[in-house]
This record gives sequence, structure tokens and C-alpha cells, in this order.
Amino acid sequence: MITLAIETSCDDTSVALLENRRVLCNLVSSQIVNPKFTGIVPELAARAHQANLLPVVRSAMERADVRKNQIDLVAATAGPGLLGSLLVGLNFAKALAYGMGVPFIGVNHIEAHMLAAFVEHSNMRFPFVALIVSGGHTMLVHARALGQYEVLGETLDDAAGECYDKVARILGLLKDGQVMGGPVIDRLSQKGDGRMIAFPRPMLKEAGLDFSFSGLKTAVMNFVSQREVSDQADVAASFQEAVVDVLVGKCARALGVTGVPRLVVCGGVAANRRLRERLHGLPQEVFIPSAEYCTDNAAMVAIAGRMHADQGETSALSVRPFAKWERVTQK
Ligand code: KG4
Ligand code: ZN
Repeated sequence: MITLAIETSCDDTSVALLENRRVLCNLVSSQIVNPKFTGIVPELAARAHQANLLPVVRSAMERADVRKNQIDLVAATAGPGLLGSLLVGLNFAKALAYGMGVPFIGVNHIEAHMLAAFVEHSNMRFPFVALIVSGGHTMLVHARALGQYEVLGETLDDAAGECYDKVARILGLLKDGQVMGGPVIDRLSQKGDGRMIAFPRPMLKEAGLDFSFSGLKTAVMNFVSQREVSDQADVAASFQEAVVDVLVGKCARALGVTGVPRLVVCGGVAANRRLRERLHGLPQEVFIPSAEYCTDNAAMVAIAGRMHADQGETSALSVRPFAKWERVTQK
């Protein structure tokens, strides 16, 4: 029972091979960003996937020592994501499945992030609350069972990771072509004091489970522009403390409201050192995938595809890429 999975929703080309629920190989080929641009250029990302996909699939199969005739399911991210990038991965996966005569399954990228917790934790179970915190999403979801999800809250503006990226840029911490601000702020914060600057904790005290991060970014921008000198590490640590207070506070509320005994935290920001430390202080069971399975990766797509296939669900080859949460499988 070997699943080959492809993830191309954003700028990383990732291919994984899974035997049942065990990861045989999980390769991520990060694109070299053109230093002329400060972010992801969708057209360039799609072209890079086009160039990378076949070599990455070949190399994954070689490393895992898997032959074509051993693969019995092909999974690919169908959305949400960048349309051009999704099209490349999705069509490649459909063609592969069709050519090999095996079922194809389209996977929801956000669901895959949540199910990443099943890759490493054999004691992971439904129901759970999931906090999905990445560069594109900040969402709290009540996962009752596979495929039964209720969105409890989401960001009204910037995603938490996006806010990290913008604040890193405001603080001048990113080099040419570098887009990920989270790891840089995380590292710098270790040298600073998070109690130095009282940045706002947006929507923490308000009822409900939605988030808003753009005001916090503006508060950092105003603070920096009004001061000649300020210790960068203290600014970074104080900003991080504000984000973490909000994320942990909302998780605690979501767990209280649902009465669910376990929390999954996933997506790129879940790699954050301070967030992990604080989450483990919650009384419920907390599952956080290791960094490799937190950021975009195909292993999470493979496990999501396999779990649905185990329930007898697959996708039609007519499945199209989509921008928002959608169900893509059928029994
Ligand atoms: O899930 P991901 O790899 O891609 C998507 O956005 O789907 O998440 C990337 C985001 C970026 O915004 C990055 O700055 C953030 O995750 N990130 C972090 C850390 N590592 C990555 N944010 C805070 N602390 C980190 N250690
Ligand atoms: Zn993602």
C-alpha cells in the first residue's frame, strides 16, 4: 500500500512516498527566489514547479527504493493555493495515476496540515481542535471526524505568518530574496526581552475565535518609526510575545468551548519555539508535528489522501484546483 503524493500549492515542490502511514521519503525542493522580488511571483512559482516536478518524483522514488508498480494511490493538493502552481502538480498527479491505472485523490491543503499530526503520533485521535497557522492561513477548526470539520474562527486580515514576514521586513531583518520572517524573528527573540514593549494583543479579549494581525504589524511599524534607537531583539521578542499570547489564548478558548481533549497545532508558524513552549502549558493533550511536517510538505498530503482512501473515497480526474476550502473526494 504505497501512496505517492505531490504538493505544489505555493512555492515549494514537494513529493512524498508513504507505505501505509509510514513515511518512506518526504522531499521538499525550495525555489530560489529572484532577489529582484520581495515575495512569491505566482507565474515564476508555477514555472519552477514545472521544471522541478519530474526530477523530484524520480529522486523520491530512487531514495525510497520504490518502483512504479508498487504505487497504488496518487494524491495531490487540489487547493487552496496559487492556481498556476496547483494546476502543475494536480495535472501531473492525475496523468501519473491515469497512466499507472491507480486511483487518484485530490487533497485539501488545510486538511492536510491538520492531519500531519497523524504522521508521527500513533496515539493521535479524533476529535481535536486544530490551530492552522501559516503564511496564508490562521484558522481554528473543530475536527469531529475525518472530513467533518467546523471552522471556529479565522483571521479577518493578515495571517500570523504573514505578520511575522512583514514585521521582519519592517525591522530590516530579511536579506535580498528572503521571504520567511518567522524563523529570523524567532531566533532574534531569544536574545531579547518580550516584556519590554507592550504591543497590542488584537481581539484577545473580545468574544469569539477570530483573529486580526494587521493592527499589530502597524503598531510595530509605528514604534520603530518613532524611535531613533531601539533594541531589535527586544522589539522582536515583544512582538512575538503578543502573537503567542493571542494564539495560545484563542486555542484555550476553543478547547473550552468545544470541550475537546486534544489540540493540534500545524502550519509553518507551529515551528515557533516560544509558541511550542507556551502551548505545552495547556492542560489538554497537545500535538505539534516536527518542523519538517509543519511547513508545506507532501507527507501530509499523502497521509490525508491515504486516510480518505481507507474510507473508500477517491476523486474524479475532473477535479479542478480551488482557492477556498472544498471537499474533493467521493465514495
Ligand atoms: O505552512 P508554511 O510553510 O507555508 C504556507 O504559508 O502555507 O508557512 C510559512 C510561514 C511563513 O510566514 C514563515 O515566516 C512562518 O511560516 N514561520 C514561522 C517560523 N517558521 C516559519 N513563524 C514563526 N516562527 C517560526 N519559527
Ligand atoms: Zn501550508
